[in-house]
Amino acid sequence: MSVKAVPKTAPIAAPVSEAVELSRQLLKAQEEERRRISRELHDETGQALMVLRFQLELLAGETQSEEVAAKIREALDVLDRTIEGLRRTIARLSPRVLEEFGLLTAIRRQAKLLAKHTGMKPRLELPENWTPADHDVEVALYRSVQEALHNVAKHSQAANFTVRLEVASEKVTLQIEDDGAGFSRRAAHIRGFGLTGMRERAAALGGLMRIRTERGKGTNIQIQLPWAANGRKQNATRGLQHAS
Ligand SMILES: Nc1ncnc2c1ncn2[C@@H]1O[C@H](COP(=O)(O)OP(=O)(O)O)[C@@H](O)[C@H]1O
Ligand SMILES: [Mg+2]
Repeated sequence: MSVKAVPKTAPIAAPVSEAVELSRQLLKAQEEERRRISRELHDETGQALMVLRFQLELLAGETQSEEVAAKIREALDVLDRTIEGLRRTIARLSPRVLEEFGLLTAIRRQAKLLAKHTGMKPRLELPENWTPADHDVEVALYRSVQEALHNVAKHSQAANFTVRLEVASEKVTLQIEDDGAGFSRRAAHIRGFGLTGMRERAAALGGLMRIRTERGKGTNIQIQLPWAANGRKQNATRGLQHAS
């Protein structure tokens, strides 16, 4: 077996600012791709399902056989559930609500949906006014709320949850808190990409994420991003200190 040659010099790591810029570009490409997939699902798959639905309804109206009619109704049921699922997927993929109605409405809608599906009690602490920020910052906040609330629904078994957004002159702080099961650091490291993705998204914008959680005592996820009140882009490399 041949021994691999060891390079004499270690590869030179990209400067921090380049790495941050690269992550930023990757996130942009990912958002673009999500938007494209969401559009295709809406325009092609969604339309095809609606045509199918229309044709099944016509058939149901035309058939004389009760047995056939019952089968068509069953098929319509399955189809309706599929269309509903597709709608949710499209909404998750595309930040359309964010773009059409702005961040505060997008956050309120997500909280309302979670409350509706789980029976948990929502609490929203949002600023009175929100001057639209750098688009990347808005998408990061939106995606973080989405992921964190998804985790609350999936893992927390909480009774209450809070989404808090605070704006200061140079930074914006988002917190998603629940009074549920909490988790150990180990669980967070072993499992999914959700928390890791949030942390990386924040870091790419020069921000940071903190997790406070204890078994049985709930979870608080905090995201801080550098932000200029007038919407001017902050230099990501001059952003907040990275913490663990
Ligand atoms: N709000 C929460 N309440 C309880 N446990 C949580 C919460 N958020 C995250 N976790 C734990 O952290 C783990 C990692 O979360 P995440 O990275 O989003 O991955 P995934 O949701 O795909 O499992 C979860 O599997 C779960 O054990
Ligand atoms: Mg998750």
